[in-house]
Amino acid sequence: MSTNLNAALDYFNTHKPDLLNDLKDLIRIPSVSFPGFDPAPVRTSAEAVVKLLSRSGLKGVRILETGAGHPAVFGQWTGAPGKPTVLLYAHHDVQPFGREELWTSPPFEPAERNGRLYGRGSSDDKGGVAMYAAAIRSFLEAARTLPVNVKVLIEGEEEVGSTNLNKLLESHRDLFSADAIIIADSENFDSGVPSLTASLRGIVTVNIEVRSLSSSGHSGTWGGPLPDPVLALSKMLASLVDEQGRPAIPGLLDKVRKLTPEEKAALDGLPFDEALFRKQANVLKGVAIIGGEGSVYEKMWRRPSIAVNAIEASSRKQAANIINDVAWARAGIRIVPDMDPEETLAMLRDHLMKQAPWGVQVKIEAESPARWWRTDTGGPMFAAALAALEKGYGKKPAVVGAGGSIPFVQTMSDALGGAPALLLGVGDPYTAAHSENESLLISDWEKGCRSLIHLFAGLAGMSG
Ligand code: BES
Ligand code: MN
Repeated sequence: MSTNLNAALDYFNTHKPDLLNDLKDLIRIPSVSFPGFDPAPVRTSAEAVVKLLSRSGLKGVRILETGAGHPAVFGQWTGAPGKPTVLLYAHHDVQPFGREELWTSPPFEPAERNGRLYGRGSSDDKGGVAMYAAAIRSFLEAARTLPVNVKVLIEGEEEVGSTNLNKLLESHRDLFSADAIIIADSENFDSGVPSLTASLRGIVTVNIEVRSLSSSGHSGTWGGPLPDPVLALSKMLASLVDEQGRPAIPGLLDKVRKLTPEEKAALDGLPFDEALFRKQANVLKGVAIIGGEGSVYEKMWRRPSIAVNAIEASSRKQAANIINDVAWARAGIRIVPDMDPEETLAMLRDHLMKQAPWGVQVKIEAESPARWWRTDTGGPMFAAALAALEKGYGKKPAVVGAGGSIPFVQTMSDALGGAPALLLGVGDPYTAAHSENESLLISDWEKGCRSLIHLFAGLAGMSG
């Protein structure tokens, strides 16, 4: 076996530029899954993933239609009877690119600068897709075999909540069945520091529309007696948090599960340097770190938080002296153990309705929620993952939490009867996922690929 492992590692080392080119080709496809964007490139992207996985040696690679949703891709290699089966999950859809003028190079033209690869999806999550292809191909080209059976599932609508894939899972349980799941859609604690993620937050998102007039009016003529919907919405939004920025919806925090002494010790064991944290998070001088008592890790990973992602009412360009007829906002609450998505949504809805002043008309629409996820880190698969990361990076891995959400993870672990989920990723704190100038530290992508090659070998010894 170890000769196969070495052959695969050698293959990876000598073919790195080609394997990275596969990632660049994926980045060129603007596979934005958001409603209102052209869905055609998401399909083009799925087709490109089919080609990539086929070229990498997987069998029966095909598009998996998800009904009304964007296409996923599935392929497998089952030539290791008696060995465990590993399901590899990632996503090929991406976020919109944001403000184009802020990109140093165009979002869908991969560009290397200072050891980083820039482009939308470079780390979230086409870097993960390309990493799977690279590790599988390295084994199948160099050794003609893999140490474990693999199934690969690359979805096309993770960034919009995975609703249709979750539904598909119910009817395709057997197709996805596996002894362990690997999810390459998380981030490393720091550049060059391999990390295994043991928890994710969930999310509940709403679109809020506030109307007070059937048409906007002159703010001088009518201002005074008329309720301004933007001010009404502002009051509603402001009521969501207290003076420390913590969620202020009555009863919401009662649901938050306390950390066990072990969990607290793990978080307290992580290094923290406020100046570095502020730099990584792009916090401006003089701006406070909020959220009350506790470590930033607990606040980001194990406590709920609220963000207002967008507000609309007129526009900068047409900001005239008017009272608007309508104001709109999208807001999300990140949820943690033991918050229930539906219950959280009901609390949020009730609270906003109660806070709406002046009889304004309020419409609240929920997007599909994501559940939180956490895992125990004691099992043998977890130990194999830590060992593989240490070999791939040449550094002791960190066990971390994540503040982001991956809707499919909890659904999947339920459906697969609690198969361990190994959550890792190629991002680092400078990745700028969802923002402008998203990038990937190329050396970490390479170390991630090597780790995955080691992990395949390491999992071969586990009982299938
Ligand atoms: N890769 C992220 C999730 C993530 C971010 C995990 C950072 C670990 C660390 C994923 O692609 C993502 O952004 N998910 C969405 C899910 C939502 C649309 C339901 C998110 O978290 O906003
Ligand atoms: Mn994302």
